[in-house]
Amino acid sequence: MFDELLRVEGLSKRFAGRRRTVAALDDVTFTVGKGETLGIVGPSGSGKSTLARVLLRLVEPDAGRILIDGEDWRSLSPKLLRRRRGSIQMVFQDPVSAFNPHTTIGKAIMDPLRIHSIGSRDTRKAAIADLLQRVGLSEEMASRRIHEVSGGQRQRVALARALASRPRLVVLDEALSALDVSLRGQMLELLVRLQQEEGISFLFIGHDPAVVRMISHRVAVMNEGRIVETGEADAVLSAPQSETGKALIAALPTWR
Ligand SMILES: Nc1ncnc2c1ncn2[C@@H]1O[C@H](COP(=O)(O)OP(=O)(O)OP(=O)(O)O)[C@@H](O)[C@H]1O
Ligand SMILES: [Mg+2]
Repeated sequence: MFDELLRVEGLSKRFAGRRRTVAALDDVTFTVGKGETLGIVGPSGSGKSTLARVLLRLVEPDAGRILIDGEDWRSLSPKLLRRRRGSIQMVFQDPVSAFNPHTTIGKAIMDPLRIHSIGSRDTRKAAIADLLQRVGLSEEMASRRIHEVSGGQRQRVALARALASRPRLVVLDEALSALDVSLRGQMLELLVRLQQEEGISFLFIGHDPAVVRMISHRVAVMNEGRIVETGEADAVLSAPQSETGKALIAALPTWR
């Protein structure tokens, strides 16, 4: 149904602990299509954030391949890497920690434009206004600092910055988890609209199966570094086959 954008093959990452090594990722294989959202669910410590960080090249995997549009992401030349670097972006649960508290939001959004040589000095101001507008914020936001805006606005700002480098895939790691129900709903709508308009792919990591189900086309269930189940979101989250999937659903409050 979707053309393939991301292919992950046999991704493994161990962390050496004091007493034992942890297989944070153990032979992880999956694909994400163009314009598709793959949800990732799993208990705490199952490797979801490690997967996100490996995709962002914040963590070097021990083994495995990451292909974007058929290009091997780990063996790109430095030059190509610089050119492609913007194509995967991430939004974290706590955007404040990802922003310099001393610089304005406008400057924070400008940086990726500059780094990826998007536009010229003159056009960047308009580009920032356009990015803010795309996530439903006013241009006036650009002159504020990250701690001067609300929690819901922060997540929009983080999304605007992620979009600045024109990513093909945005990884959202518990990005909406700290928001209240109505703000989360607004962000979900925004993400869906962006995807429909621009064909962006999402890797949506979340602990709430109901939220993950709302946005995901397919879902992968992780446990102890492995993908234990994957399939259509509705099928996996209404009738999971794996023990981990069953446990996640069983843990939901019954009044939902
Ligand atoms: N830098 C690190 N050094 C050592 N161990 C790590 C490191 N990062 C993650 N781990 C371990 O790897 C495993 C997977 O962690 P990860 O953060 O990927 O889990 P997660 O699924 O994101 O959990 P949560 O739902 O709580 O965010 C855990 O056992 C964790 O303790
Ligand atoms: Mg995590």
